[in-house]
Amino acid sequence: MNNVTLLRKSARDPQAPASEAVRPRLVEVDELAKHYFLSRLFSIKSVDGVSFDIRQGEVLGLVGESGCGKSTIARLLTRQTPPTSGQVRIAGQEIADVGGEDLKRLRRTVQLVFQDPFGALDPRMRIGTSMEAPLAQHRIGTREERRDKVMRMLAEVGLDESFYERYPRQCSGGQLQRVVIGRALLLEPRFLICDEPTSALDASMRTQILNLLTDLKRRHGLTMLMISHDLRVVRHICDRIAVMYLGRIVEVADSDALFRTPRHPYTRALIAASMLDRTGLYSPEIQLRGDLPSPLNPPRGCRFHTRCAHAQAKCSQAEPEFESASESHQVRCHFWRELPPGQTAEAGSP
Ligand SMILES: Nc1ncnc2c1ncn2[C@@H]1O[C@H](COP(=O)(O)OP(=O)(O)OP(=O)(O)O)[C@@H](O)[C@H]1O
Ligand SMILES: [Mg+2]
Repeated sequence: MNNVTLLRKSARDPQAPASEAVRPRLVEVDELAKHYFLSRLFSIKSVDGVSFDIRQGEVLGLVGESGCGKSTIARLLTRQTPPTSGQVRIAGQEIADVGGEDLKRLRRTVQLVFQDPFGALDPRMRIGTSMEAPLAQHRIGTREERRDKVMRMLAEVGLDESFYERYPRQCSGGQLQRVVIGRALLLEPRFLICDEPTSALDASMRTQILNLLTDLKRRHGLTMLMISHDLRVVRHICDRIAVMYLGRIVEVADSDALFRTPRHPYTRALIAASMLDRTGLYSPEIQLRGDLPSPLNPPRGCRFHTRCAHAQAKCSQAEPEFESASESHQVRCHFWRELPPGQTAEAGSP
């Protein structure tokens, strides 16, 4: 069985609950790769054969250390950069094929919120003008209607009317991130990608923005890809989480299952590193050792073997395929069945 089939098993499984069966897949990513060629011989394999689906109304988390390829996936999904190979379908449409009016529609359908809200807004423009600009670009409503929409959206993201006239320098980072999220939602996207939306914010702001996103998800049934290097950020908001390592997904599972019974040594190390392991069951041996290897020359076999406390000879020779630990839980590790129990349901959740 290939990786794609495994990742999608639950989608086709006749045993899947009815609600799962009826929710169509909005985003379908097939063996997506992005290699940056430095010369004829050398390329940085930023994304190297990634497949996943996101169902309508679902929030998928994408986590992994800095440089593992998360933002490259965001750029590929928004067509800011072309893939080296592989496909992305959004609402059934292959995004590489769209042009003209369809491309305009796609740009509206998929919205991206970045880490740095200061960089996302023109410092010379009032907040109201910045928020109205994409509506005007897409010729939505009259001037009056656009102003009304922006006012309503300000309230929806928890800001009062005075923000309409303010400049970015008169706002905090958290307030600006609310503005950026509101601006994205004004276009009524079907798919929202948030790339590290809270990592430029302090802890209390981070919680507020996550609560806002959770709330918006509930109210609008948003389909989202939530990118973060920090498991704590994706934990509560995501239905499922995919863990990336050096351009590959190494584990994907429902959010609860990933924290209750993480199967990949790398996922366990991330949980330990993010201090979510209050049970103390992760021994120091699972802490990450050394730096992330270069994507210019990823290790042969399992890419994680150079940092894995459980690596055996086979790990440096053959790359593991995805295996199913359960219907909706896949892991790419030769020895996941033999790992010490670690953090299990019996041990209590973190
Ligand atoms: N335009 C480019 N040219 C060459 N290499 C690139 C380019 N863009 C990204 N890369 C490389 O691709 C790899 C993945 O980068 P990416 O920005 O996707 O990582 P990331 O997971 O988002 O990291 P972070 O958590 O720091 O944001 C990195 O090694 C990066 O240096
Ligand atoms: Mg990034």
